[in-house]
Amino acid sequence: MSNTASETFTPRHVLVTGGAGFIGSAYVRRALARYPDLRVTVLDKLTYAGNPQNLAPVAHDPRYRFVQGDIARRDDVLPALRDCDALVNFAAETHVDRSILDAGAFVTTDVYGSLVLLEAVKELGTPRALFVSTDEVYGDVEEGASVETDPFAPRSPYAASKAGGELLVRAYRITHGLPVLTTRGSNTFGPYHYPEKLIPLMITNALDEQPLPVYGDGRQRRDWLYADDHAAGIDVVLRRGTPGEAYNLGGGNERENIDVVRRILELTGKPESLIQHVQDRPGHDRRYALDCAKAHALGWRPAMSFEKALEETVRWYQQHEDWWHPLKGGEYAAYYKQQYAARLA
Ligand code: NAD
Ligand code: DAU
Repeated sequence: MSNTASETFTPRHVLVTGGAGFIGSAYVRRALARYPDLRVTVLDKLTYAGNPQNLAPVAHDPRYRFVQGDIARRDDVLPALRDCDALVNFAAETHVDRSILDAGAFVTTDVYGSLVLLEAVKELGTPRALFVSTDEVYGDVEEGASVETDPFAPRSPYAASKAGGELLVRAYRITHGLPVLTTRGSNTFGPYHYPEKLIPLMITNALDEQPLPVYGDGRQRRDWLYADDHAAGIDVVLRRGTPGEAYNLGGGNERENIDVVRRILELTGKPESLIQHVQDRPGHDRRYALDCAKAHALGWRPAMSFEKALEETVRWYQQHEDWWHPLKGGEYAAYYKQQYAARLA
């Protein structure tokens, strides 16, 4: 076991699983821009949420390689991980509303996929493996802020699957001594975000002058973190974190959903009459909040203010209709109908 916070770990070749998704691709773009000697292999199944265009900015970089594959398949994972000295796992089913409609894929990827990755790290002796998790494992937080030692209390099938994956990471640390780390991030937003989540859904609906479906009273609270800042936090924990530990990564930007939606309408110059309060999400968590002192002690802090990050995100969607408009057809349209048609009727 290698293992103190004082020894900084410098990866040479990272396997980024789920690197074609929203935060994974932000991590890959940032890491290749920042570390000239780093090599990155992305392993991604390319589900509806995975998009090779998210990696177009690095596609011709000789230090980058893409492999299509599934983290729940040992035969896909082992060859991809063999040459790497670090693993960063972003691969997951990530949308709470979809987990309410059908939870099967969440257990397969978020729980069983984590197990397959842990087994591969064990078999190959990979020096470091970071598992990206979420503040949702703590469940609804009425007041105060979650610390890393708080008990898990997940309330949606998504959160339960992420907690299940995390418990396996913990068990493999204790039982097999694997050099694993976990991050628990808060609600993330920014460019290249698939338009099923609150911020990109509201921005793209506003730009298309479609109704903005706000669940319930819209007074649920989330802590918002810009994607580049989330990627930077993951990088700091990979390099400076203590194996076996978990680190909260929050933005420190707690907002009510309705205020976020109103600000999006201001930034897009669209009327508030587009807001439609609809039937609430079952089991809807009212609030998440993270105490991030542990990650701050490693030297990480978010660099972007919420206000500036939201402005930049809205501008990015205004300038990249070619990226998001095609996504709104096909699979997305079918999902949107199932999730919203009755609610908006
Ligand atoms: P995303 O849904 O945008 O992307 C997920 C990626 O994983 C996609 O590229 C998809 O193709 C890939 N994938 C899914 N199943 C796979 C499998 N079986 N094998 C290989 N690849 C597979 O997700 P995201 O929002 O970028 O989230 C990344 C990670 O961060 C997830 O683990 C998520 O739980 C966590 N997280 C997300 C947020 C957030 O607000 N988005 C906040 C905290 C933590
Ligand atoms: O907290 C971290 C988590 O944040 C991540 O682990 C998840 O992967 C990510 O999806 C996100 O989960 P949320 O459920 O908080 O995100 P979502 O964008 O789906 O919803 C944010 C809030 O907005 C939530 O209170 C529900 C509400 N909402 C969402 C949608 C999609 C609406 O009111 N209307 C909507 O149409």
